[in-house]
Amino acid sequence: MLSRRLYAIDLGTDNTIVFEPSRGIIFNEPTYIALHRHSGKVLCIGREAKEMAGKTPPHLTVIKPLSQGAIANLDATGLFLRHLIDMLMRRRALFGPAIAVSIPFDLTSFERNAVREAGIQGGARSVVMIEDPYSAAVGAGIDLLAPSGALLLDIGSGVTEISLLSCGSVVASRSVRSAGWDFEQEIIDYLDARYRGRISRRDAEMLKIEAGCSDADIPVPIKNRSDALPRALQIPLTDVREALKPGIRRLSDFIRAFLRILPPDFAPYIRENGLYLTGGTALLGGLKSHIEREFSLRTVVGQNPLQEIALGAGRIIEDRKLFAHLVTGR
Ligand SMILES: Nc1ncnc2c1ncn2[C@@H]1O[C@H](COP(=O)(O)OP(=O)(O)OP(=O)(O)O)[C@@H](O)[C@H]1O
Ligand SMILES: [Mg+2]
Repeated sequence: MLSRRLYAIDLGTDNTIVFEPSRGIIFNEPTYIALHRHSGKVLCIGREAKEMAGKTPPHLTVIKPLSQGAIANLDATGLFLRHLIDMLMRRRALFGPAIAVSIPFDLTSFERNAVREAGIQGGARSVVMIEDPYSAAVGAGIDLLAPSGALLLDIGSGVTEISLLSCGSVVASRSVRSAGWDFEQEIIDYLDARYRGRISRRDAEMLKIEAGCSDADIPVPIKNRSDALPRALQIPLTDVREALKPGIRRLSDFIRAFLRILPPDFAPYIRENGLYLTGGTALLGGLKSHIEREFSLRTVVGQNPLQEIALGAGRIIEDRKLFAHLVTGR
């Protein structure tokens, strides 16, 4: 399978990152696609398409083909991958590339088949998969084969997954199909209840990111049914932090439930090595220290949690031994 053209792809709910051996990351943009509504022709993908979301004229549509870590729209994912592969290959080759897609550990066989199908529709010659906990561990530089037990928490946009790895395998893993996207929804709903008006998803994401960095009031357009145009409202970031509290409590309950099912033999290692936090939502302000306080557990956030899965998947396809051990056709 180690073919001339082989890409590792982190096909995330929010971002897609492509790694090419010996070149590194060659694509890193939002998983969005803009299409002509009637012809189905692709206008653009990635950042440009995300920019258009919510602002398109009737003949155009912007689609987010993944939801909660899984393919929600197979045709749109196939078109997204086809456009992506065409861009990467620059000129159309007789055979498409082989792709290794990093996927959440808990994807069902039905959802795995959808990934394979989308890859083939996208023009890939073959599609294999790597489960995210392995990509994350390799990306974080954790020695996978050690019998010590590595505890990893990946919080992306649509999925939160916690896993314990030891001796080269996943000992236990649990996931919940909610993450950064749901934090944004809670901000939107909280502000709607408090100020009687809706803010945009884009502003909710901006407030979520800002909430960890400052105490300022931020002006945001907000609109209810009776407003002709949105009004600008100063949103105190203390409100945003309040809106985030239930989601953070749910996350704590999720971590606690997982720690309870782990075999006791791992306890000393976990106490020593702590918890490794990755995925974009690992950057949520105050989250790392909250977990540390709540569980008295050393918590480490990697240098680049948004890219770790792609970097790990890339290292796996570059290394024959890791490839043979971790890449699966299932
Ligand atoms: N500084 C930040 N603070 C808080 N959240 C952030 C920050 N930067 C990015 N995010 C959030 O991280 C999420 C994207 O992370 P990531 O790219 O790991 O997700 P994904 O892989 O696309 O999704 P999934 O793994 O759930 O399918 C988004 O919800 C984004 O708003
Ligand atoms: Mg992800």
